[in-house]
Amino acid sequence: MSEASAPGGMLPADPRRGVRRLAVATTVATLVLISMGGAVRATDSGLACPDWPACYGQWIPPADLNMWLEHSHRLWAGVVGLAIVALVVLSWRHRDVPRLWRLSAVALGLVVIQAGLGAAVVLLHLRAGLVTSHLGMSWIIVACLVVVAIAARDPRSAPEASSHERLVARDSAVVAVLVLLQGLLGGQATGRGAAYVYNAVPIWLSDQQWTGHSREVLHLTHRFAGYLVAAAVVVYAVRALRRARRADGRVPAWTMRLPQLAVVLVLIQVGFGITNVLTRATVWSGIAHLTVASWLWTVLVLAAALGWRRARVPGAPTPETPGTQTSLDSAGPTGPGTRPSGEPEREVVR
Ligand code: HEM
Repeated sequence: MSEASAPGGMLPADPRRGVRRLAVATTVATLVLISMGGAVRATDSGLACPDWPACYGQWIPPADLNMWLEHSHRLWAGVVGLAIVALVVLSWRHRDVPRLWRLSAVALGLVVIQAGLGAAVVLLHLRAGLVTSHLGMSWIIVACLVVVAIAARDPRSAPEASSHERLVARDSAVVAVLVLLQGLLGGQATGRGAAYVYNAVPIWLSDQQWTGHSREVLHLTHRFAGYLVAAAVVVYAVRALRRARRADGRVPAWTMRLPQLAVVLVLIQVGFGITNVLTRATVWSGIAHLTVASWLWTVLVLAAALGWRRARVPGAPTPETPGTQTSLDSAGPTGPGTRPSGEPEREVVR
């Protein structure tokens, strides 16, 4: 095993670095894939290739923008699938942490189902329920990859989470579920043609009359639930900040920074939602709305995973034992760098 220098002497290099890096790279690739899916949807390219997996029976279809948007989405999905296969193989080599290969295997299983769903979406002509399931499944795959990346952190820098971190993680998980439900509602609104039932903000300026049609209900539910979800994210960040203040800021930086990032993202998300309504979704605002929703989901899942990490990883210190700080932790208000040996890693906030 290679050696790397570390404070206090020579320590073996982080053993699961490869798994972590691959998990992070695959997460980013999956987020790109989701945005590409948004481009397919926003440009109505979903049926540009009516067969599957090739396009009109060809692997290199003619130079047509819609065809290539749909086809490149499929090709990139193949790359993501292969990356997840590699992740399973690599995680299996680190099966002393069973979570790694188990979760990677779950992600792989979901990708296979996702490919089947993608085929069904095309072959059954973009049925709304299938398109929404395709979106939801992609977010669950992202969540699996994020958890793998966190579980593969260097055990010396990942002590068991403190009670403060667990509380932030619990709130993050609750808000993530709200964002997931809101995303599924949005997928249904798009899939069922409810996106532009009302074309103004605020709603009463719209020239559409209320008829009680289910599409109007869907549209309004997504819109107003969006404001409520945004409010929930703000409350979540304020709670995290208050808890950190009560501990005089002696908490890991991520417990404040990730909730703050979530607030920024949700405000941008509401902005794109309003732009969608006002512009009847230009291609760009449609793609941006889906992209930011996926980032928001990722940030919340990341916060939940960070706060629930356990010291079951071989070599991980417990909160009582000193450990090396991570980049997220070391950027905190207590300042960068390693603490003097013997000093507790951080104060546990109850
Ligand atoms: C936390 C807040 C929100 C989240 C997570 C969210 C998420 C989503 C998602 C995932 C979609 C499906 C996009 C696609 O499949 O391509 C969508 C569609 C949509 N959302 Fe939201 N949304 C939020 C708030 C809002 C708000 C506040 C509004 C309006 C004021 C809005 C208006 C729309 C519209 C009009 C569509 C249809 C877009 C299209 O068909 O291209 N959203 N949303």
